[in-house]
Amino acid sequence: MELYRACYRSKIKWDNMRLPLPDEIDRTLLRIRRINRKAGVTGALLLVDQHVIQVLEGQTGQVLDTVYCVMNDPRMNDIEGIIHEPVDFRLFPNSLMFFRDLTDGIAASNHPVLRPLLDHPGDVTRDEAYLAFSHFATELQAGRLTNDMLMI
Ligand SMILES: Cc1cc2nc3c(=O)[nH]c(=O)nc-3n(C[C@H](O)[C@H](O)[C@H](O)COP(=O)(O)O)c2cc1C
Repeated sequence: MELYRACYRSKIKWDNMRLPLPDEIDRTLLRIRRINRKAGVTGALLLVDQHVIQVLEGQTGQVLDTVYCVMNDPRMNDIEGIIHEPVDFRLFPNSLMFFRDLTDGIAASNHPVLRPLLDHPGDVTRDEAYLAFSHFATELQAGRLTNDMLMI
């Protein structure tokens, strides 16, 4: 099975939010995790000030269909592709959509690899995106190892 990874950054179109932001996020995550489970798509979504940055992984066709859905979502604007490539493994194999809100800057002040996501009014590079998402992927993996050792 060929695996594919897509990553993009998009501006949030606040006027098209139907609910207050925390409710909109909860509702959207619930919905997209349900869709992603059916499509075999996994990934992560980071909320960064006026932008979201998302990585999507799965079979090529399913990932491209998902990107298409996102591009047509009225809440998204000015989508910039960062990564589009076949890959050998998933960074987020167990996450139907991992989510972190980075808007308070605390995580970024503790972890320098996250800073370029916040600091940049310009483009986020492929390497910066990989470093930031790998940070969370490693964190998830460490949690899994601990749980395995503790048998929880
Ligand atoms: C920030 C964001 C992330 C999204 N991520 C996904 C995703 O991972 N998978 C997916 O199928 N759709 C994703 N979408 C697209 C929407 O979920 C999709 O447009 C929505 O489900 C449309 O259906 P609805 O209007 O019936 O809710 C995303 C949309 C937004 C705004």
